[in-house]
Amino acid sequence: MRPVVDEEMLQAAMYSLQNEKLVMGESVFKFEEEFARYCGARYAVSTGSGTAALQIALQSMQIGQTDEVLTSPFSFFATSNAVIHAGAQPRFADVEDDGFNLDPSKADSKLTARTRAIMPVHLYGQPARMDEFRDLAEDKGISIVEDACQAHGAEYDGRRVGSLGHVACFSFYTSKNMTVCGDGGMIVTNDEGVADAARSFRDCGRASKYTMSRIGYTSRLNTVNAAIGRVQLRKLDSWNKARRRIANMYRRALEEASAVTLPPAEMPKETPVYHLFVVRSTRRDQLAAHLERNGIEAAIHYPVPIHLQAPYRANYGYSEGSFPVSEKLAGQVLSLPIHPAISDEEVRTVSQLISEFSIE
Ligand SMILES: Cc1ncc(COP(=O)(O)O)c(C=O)c1O
Repeated sequence: MRPVVDEEMLQAAMYSLQNEKLVMGESVFKFEEEFARYCGARYAVSTGSGTAALQIALQSMQIGQTDEVLTSPFSFFATSNAVIHAGAQPRFADVEDDGFNLDPSKADSKLTARTRAIMPVHLYGQPARMDEFRDLAEDKGISIVEDACQAHGAEYDGRRVGSLGHVACFSFYTSKNMTVCGDGGMIVTNDEGVADAARSFRDCGRASKYTMSRIGYTSRLNTVNAAIGRVQLRKLDSWNKARRRIANMYRRALEEASAVTLPPAEMPKETPVYHLFVVRSTRRDQLAAHLERNGIEAAIHYPVPIHLQAPYRANYGYSEGSFPVSEKLAGQVLSLPIHPAISDEEVRTVSQLISEFSIE
C-alpha cells in the first residue's frame, strides 16, 4: 500500500482546519451526501471507523441480544467483533471452494430462527454473490448487511456495492482503496430509520444537543478527515481503474506460473476493485521468503481465520476443522504488491520472481 496525500488534500485539510468546526463541520455532511450518491443510496452516516460503522449499523437495525448474524470466518476479525460489540452472536459459514467469499450454499444450512442478518464480506474488493444471498434472505425476514470495508467502488450487476443490501459499511483506514488519512467509516443505506438511529448512535446517543434517545458512542468522523475524504472520493474511480489494470497485468504474467493459483476469473456481472491481489500457493511461506530476499514485501490476509483466534476458540468452542476451506486458505494466500502508483516495471519484477520460483 502507499497512502496518497497530495497537494489538493493538504489544501482541503488546511481550509477545513482554518474555517470549519473541527467536529461535525460542513465537510462531514458534504462527504456523507457525496458518498451516498456515489454508492447509489439515499443516506450515508460517517463514523470513527469501519468497525464502529458495522456495530452501529447493526444496533440501528435493532439487532442485538438473542439475535444472530451470519458471516464469514475468513475476513479481518473486525467483521465479527462488530457483531459481538452490538450484543449479538456471530455465526459462521465457510467460504467458496474456489474463491474467498462467504458461500451462499454453505450459509443456507447455518441460518436459524434467530438469524437477523447475513453479513457477506466483499473480501479483497471482490463483490460477494449478492443475488444468492438476497434469495436466501428474502422470504425469511433476514436483512443483508454488506461488509464493504475493502470494496469501495466495486460493482455487482451494474450497481455499486453499498446499494446491494439493506445496509452497507465501509472503512477508510489508511490501507483502503480510498482513505481519510486516519481512521474513519461510513454506513450507507436507503432506510431513513436506520440512518437516523445511526446519526444518534455515533453522536453520544443524542436526540438534541442535551437530550438523548439511546445509549450512544463518541464515534464521529473528524471534519478534517471528511474534507480529505471528499478529495479522495473524486479520485477513487481512476485509482480503481489503475488497480484493475495492474491485476490484469499480474493475471497475464502469472498465467503459466506453476507455484501459484490466480484469483478466480471475473464473472461478467462482477467488477472487483482489487483492494488486494491475492494468489494461492501450497509453498506460500517459501514463496514469500523468496520475494522478501529479493526486496519484495508480500503480505498474508489472513494467516489465522477468525474462528481460530484465541477469543473465538475460548468463547465459542471452535477448533481446527470447523471451517476447512477458510483454514486451507489461511495457509495458502499471499497478497502481492498492488496500489495505483505501482509501475509496470515493478509488476514485471514481482511476476518474474514468482515465475522463477516456479521452476526452481
Ligand atoms: C473486511 C473488513 N471489515 C471491517 C474492517 C474494520 O474497519 P476499521 O479498521 O476501519 O475499523 C476492516 C478493515 O480494517 C475490514 O477489512
